[in-house]
Amino acid sequence: MTRRAVVVGASSGIGLELARGLAAEGYELGLVARRLDLLEKVASELPTRTWVRTIDVSLSQEAIAGLSALLRDMDSVDLVVLCAGIGFLNRKLKWEYEEATIATNVEGFAACAGVAWAHFVTRGKGHLVGISSVAALRGGNQAPAYAASKAFVANYLEGLAAISHQRKLNITVTDIRPGFVDTPMTRGQKGMFWVARPEVAARQILRAIRCRKRVAYVTRRWSIIAAIMRILPHWLYRKL
Ligand SMILES: NC(=O)c1ccc[n+]([C@@H]2O[C@H](COP(=O)([O-])OP(=O)(O)OC[C@H]3O[C@@H](n4cnc5c(N)ncnc54)[C@H](OP(=O)(O)O)[C@@H]3O)[C@@H](O)[C@H]2O)c1
Repeated sequence: MTRRAVVVGASSGIGLELARGLAAEGYELGLVARRLDLLEKVASELPTRTWVRTIDVSLSQEAIAGLSALLRDMDSVDLVVLCAGIGFLNRKLKWEYEEATIATNVEGFAACAGVAWAHFVTRGKGHLVGISSVAALRGGNQAPAYAASKAFVANYLEGLAAISHQRKLNITVTDIRPGFVDTPMTRGQKGMFWVARPEVAARQILRAIRCRKRVAYVTRRWSIIAAIMRILPHWLYRKL
């Protein structure tokens, strides 16, 4: 039977490459983002059946209604990847950036996760994948709301994985934690290292999905940075 997946945030960067990779593996795909022209272009290039839906996830009621309608249209979806996200370097804490980050990465993420969860509970199985970040592990001095929002994503997914385990639900929950990936979000940013091409990141994410990983660092060597970040004492971390 043909498998079906939804990628939220499929119009560019990591989500776009994931959509391409999933289609190559034979998935039929629901493609979600705000920019219809880009989604339609992606859909026209994919070799499988697609459903296109514009949703602004930062408007949580729109996210809930839109994603619910898409899952209804697609009937039965095996995999939902929540990739939509934004980030700003914002040391001056301009509220418009912090607010937009929280609305998209926190409220939008939780709203979409709840819809996917309900779908999987009803059908008795499913796989929910969220894209957090290595930035989820500690506070961020360049982008405070971004790092905090990704900590929310990582913790939320861990909570859902625990619910699934305790209630013996056949729902897999995967937290993908990328380091730096060369996408429109990071373009022009200074001080990056070990920057992965989005195709490479997507390939590793697809492998983590196939292996039903709980947590995966992308690219894999970012697990070294993660281990260091976890043990650095605050007095040292704050100097970096
Ligand atoms: N690039 C990195 O180095 C890196 C590192 C760690 C984690 N991540 C995470 O990876 C995910 C993908 O980022 P990316 O690097 O691929 O960035 P990107 O190229 O800017 O892609 C972001 C995607 O999210 C969608 N999106 C943003 N706001 C949205 C909204 N309000 N409603 C619906 N869709 C929205 C965008 O589509 P529209 O603009 O068309 O709506 C786009 O498809 C993000 O969650 C990001 O935090 C990225």
